[in-house]
Amino acid sequence: MLSLSEYQNVISEEFSNIHIHKQPKNLYEPIDYILSLGGKRIRPVLTLMATDIFDGDYKKAISAAKAIEVFHNFSLVHDDIMDDAPLRRGNETVHEKWNINTGILSGDAMLILAYQFFEVYEPNIFQKLAKLFSKTALEVCEGQQYDVDFETRDDVTIPEYLKMIEFKTAVLLGAAMKMGAIVAETSEENADLIYNFGLNLGIAFQLQDDYLDAFGNPETFGKQVGGDIIENKKTYLYLKAMEFATEENKQQLLHLFSIQPNDNSDKIDSVKTIFNTSGASKATQDAIANYTEIAFETLEKMKISEDKKMVLRLFGEKLMNRKV
Ligand code: IPE
Ligand code: IPE
Ligand code: MG
Ligand code: MG
Ligand code: MG
Repeated sequence: MLSLSEYQNVISEEFSNIHIHKQPKNLYEPIDYILSLGGKRIRPVLTLMATDIFDGDYKKAISAAKAIEVFHNFSLVHDDIMDDAPLRRGNETVHEKWNINTGILSGDAMLILAYQFFEVYEPNIFQKLAKLFSKTALEVCEGQQYDVDFETRDDVTIPEYLKMIEFKTAVLLGAAMKMGAIVAETSEENADLIYNFGLNLGIAFQLQDDYLDAFGNPETFGKQVGGDIIENKKTYLYLKAMEFATEENKQQLLHLFSIQPNDNSDKIDSVKTIFNTSGASKATQDAIANYTEIAFETLEKMKISEDKKMVLRLFGEKLMNRKV
């Protein structure tokens, strides 16, 4: 196996070579733009790692890894339209830099480009990859719809929230790893175990994303801090605050999540204070640690060497401690 930074180098080298100099430029430039902004690229790294873990050749998984990352970037372009987000990876979002229609169409094209990366695989592997990918992509759409539906509901439950983040985020991490397992042609049992590892890590990952959305450092976070509060997102922080807060704070939170002020800074400050004083922030941190631990437990069921388990654990720990 390679080290984490070596896998990252492989992926960044691959993406530095993807430039689409085609017409019309208003379709392709936004694609180059969002891909060149990079990001952490954790999903393609997971794909390569999974292939090596099951004794495949990571080089064979590069195309599948690119498919996953281009799909992820597509989902971000559309997500930023849906969330009315101004910033992505420290830069203007595609629909802010161009316009909403451009974001929609360039996003659509990216989804198709993602599928094209599977064309290099032989029929048997191609079919497995395409099937998993389609299932996952539909689930992401379902998760995204729940996320939007929840904005205007005030009775969202924790199980509903967990299902929503499983679909919008975690299944893609699971699928990224399972694709590596498919390319390695390992057993179905192994493929399912690594999917579960990725899925639970993905739930922890989205919990952390929600936490950082409120409490990240605006200087380094790369997205608009407080964006979820502005959009009245029913995050774990919010739901736990509604569970733990005093009656007075609950009423205040309900009120704050029903208004759309012109200037959101007071709303963001007040909501964050309630997240902290109610114990919701602490509960979110605990949940992140819990789901990471569940992911680590699935590792124990896998018949792979201790060294390989260590690499995956290291990855999980790094994710848990990330600031962006
Ligand atoms: C952001 O994903 C969207 C979520 C599912 C939380 P990342 O945090 O992986 O974004 P980049 O690719 O590193 O920018
Ligand atoms: C994003 O969830 C999930 C997908 C893009 C499918 P978020 O809306 O929380 O992601 P960020 O915070 O904008 O990256
Ligand atoms: Mg968003
Ligand atoms: Mg969103
Ligand atoms: Mg977010």
